[in-house]
Amino acid sequence: EQTGKSGYAHFMLKEIHEQPTALRQGLSGRLDELAGQVTVDELDGLETPTTVQFVACGTSYHAAMFGVETLRTAGIPAQTFLASEYATGPPPIGNETLVVGVTQSGETADTLSALREASARGAETLALTNVVDSTAARECDHVLYIRSGPEIGVAATKTFSSQLVALTLFSAALVDQRGEESRERVAALRALPSDLQYVLDESRTADVVDAYLDSAAYFFIGRGPNYPVALEGALKFKEITYEHAEGFAAGELKHGTLALVTGETPVFAVVTGDDERARKTIGNVKEVEARDAPVIAVTDGVAGVEQYADHVLEIPNTHPQTAPVLANAQLQLVAYHMANRLGRSIDKPRNLAKSVTVE
Ligand code: G6P
Repeated sequence: EQTGKSGYAHFMLKEIHEQPTALRQGLSGRLDELAGQVTVDELDGLETPTTVQFVACGTSYHAAMFGVETLRTAGIPAQTFLASEYATGPPPIGNETLVVGVTQSGETADTLSALREASARGAETLALTNVVDSTAARECDHVLYIRSGPEIGVAATKTFSSQLVALTLFSAALVDQRGEESRERVAALRALPSDLQYVLDESRTADVVDAYLDSAAYFFIGRGPNYPVALEGALKFKEITYEHAEGFAAGELKHGTLALVTGETPVFAVVTGDDERARKTIGNVKEVEARDAPVIAVTDGVAGVEQYADHVLEIPNTHPQTAPVLANAQLQLVAYHMANRLGRSIDKPRNLAKSVTVE
């Protein structure tokens, strides 16, 4: 097993470091930089749907939330559903609704049930998966492979990043976007593997977590496409550290959970870009700071959050749709290093399975 880890202490760490390669594989042959266009051959037979419903579980559900955000910016209304809820209480399906199952393994029972339910109700289905010829890939009308390569660690890492990239490609391909904005996004996607390599090489997470080993709880906040990153940051943290962590839409914290915020609850704030969202998230950072919470900002330096943070985990400045991939890598390392310092079973966390084949 040690050989399989290529010198890394855990599969999770190895897979975190495999992400630049995984993303190159996922992007290969799918970007036309000159035209600023995205081409995904697998989607050739797919008509642009009027609405998209995502079904997914766990980490893949967070990727699906990101998918909703990218489709929304592309002008396609989309919603996401927990697969376990969808299967037993499906929403109405309109004409030309596409139901997308986001599932790394392609074998998650809840997701398969939801897709079968959607299919039985007449929806077209698409599997966004890593595993060639998996059940989801075989049963859906269409399949889009994320091309991450095999993932052994129970906690999903590189497959989440690959899902985010595949969903960005998916939304760009569906509406055949062109022009300056599209060219900028294609250039950012092209640069993403090397930007991610930079984050992995330069990350200071191992030092930062040492300051917070004995905290009462850990909160993660973000807005827009950084909201699913906050949720995923907290989920990863819970899965492998066994410590209490929660992710929130930054604006929601004040509607209840702020009551829990003290000097013993570090807040990881994902703040990128220079827009209304970033400014409002900084406002939320000030709210927790005023309650003595230590703030760890995951930021591209553009947002200007540094002055309110106790620690900064930097990412390169990039496109709004690629920033979440870089921010997430910092949070993967936060969870990993914290779990490592606490001596947890990182590759096989208690009570969890890589693929859950029961409903
Ligand atoms: C399990 C794993 C999670 C994963 C979820 C969905 O619960 O422990 O890490 O996110 O299944 O898996 P899928 O293969 O459908 O993406």
